[in-house]
Amino acid sequence: MMVRWERQDGATTNYMQKSAALRWIENAYLRTHLGGRGVEIGGLWRRFTVPSSSKVWYVDRMSMEDLTKHYSAIHTGIVAPDIIADGESLPLRGLDFIVASNVLEHLPSPLKALKSWYEALRGGGCLLLKVPDKRFSFDHRRERTSLTHLIEEYENPDSIDLRAHYGEWVELVNGKPRQSADFERELQKLMAQNYSIHYHVWIDRDLREVIEYTRNVWRLDWEPVVFWNAHFYRKETVTILKKRATV
Ligand SMILES: C[S@@+](CC[C@H](N)C(=O)[O-])C[C@H]1O[C@@H](n2cnc3c(N)ncnc32)[C@H](O)[C@@H]1O
Repeated sequence: MMVRWERQDGATTNYMQKSAALRWIENAYLRTHLGGRGVEIGGLWRRFTVPSSSKVWYVDRMSMEDLTKHYSAIHTGIVAPDIIADGESLPLRGLDFIVASNVLEHLPSPLKALKSWYEALRGGGCLLLKVPDKRFSFDHRRERTSLTHLIEEYENPDSIDLRAHYGEWVELVNGKPRQSADFERELQKLMAQNYSIHYHVWIDRDLREVIEYTRNVWRLDWEPVVFWNAHFYRKETVTILKKRATV
């Protein structure tokens, strides 16, 4: 049964409960791929539960103290990083799994990150990626990031125009008109904070295209053993990329 969002009655509650139950079942399945020793990048306020027999270390780009300042609206439960590192170039090898939930879009160079995560996995290891689908988020007014744009920025890192990325965020997410004083003030403030914006926005088939690029052009030997499109109750694309065991 399809329940409309705007209904503020028992049907909405029912819908929310069903969504939560479906996500719980999905996550239980996803975690069956996360055995052994691995990392979660950017856990922040909701670490992904791995099997109790697994060992997971938490990676973030900032210390606990800095995360608390950066995300001042989160008052409790910030995941303390065990490793402070830039997730785009993970300084680890031989991992059984990597979890990156709602992180890829926060990285200026997602292609660089994917290559680094592939290299950090052992043969047979798995990357769990969850990426918000812009149609279901505050990014809905933004243009989808093309694969061509990602390749261009990957191949010419000096061409990454941070101001343009922040400008798009300030205008189309925070709703400040380009010509207003507010726009420039907010842009300067966020850039000075190195605020963790969504640099890129996608829908599910864009993500599939990015993954296929890493497989077909770069010849990274991993395959999507799970690929779930974004859906009305799961507003993100979910994939598990499994690296071939003999690599
Ligand atoms: C939106 S939060 C994700 C929180 C949670 N995993 C979830 O699914 O909602 C993004 C996280 O990625 C981290 N992050 C952003 N850029 C990063 C980078 N370059 N390296 C490592 N972590 C980064 C942020 O600090 C934050 O913890």
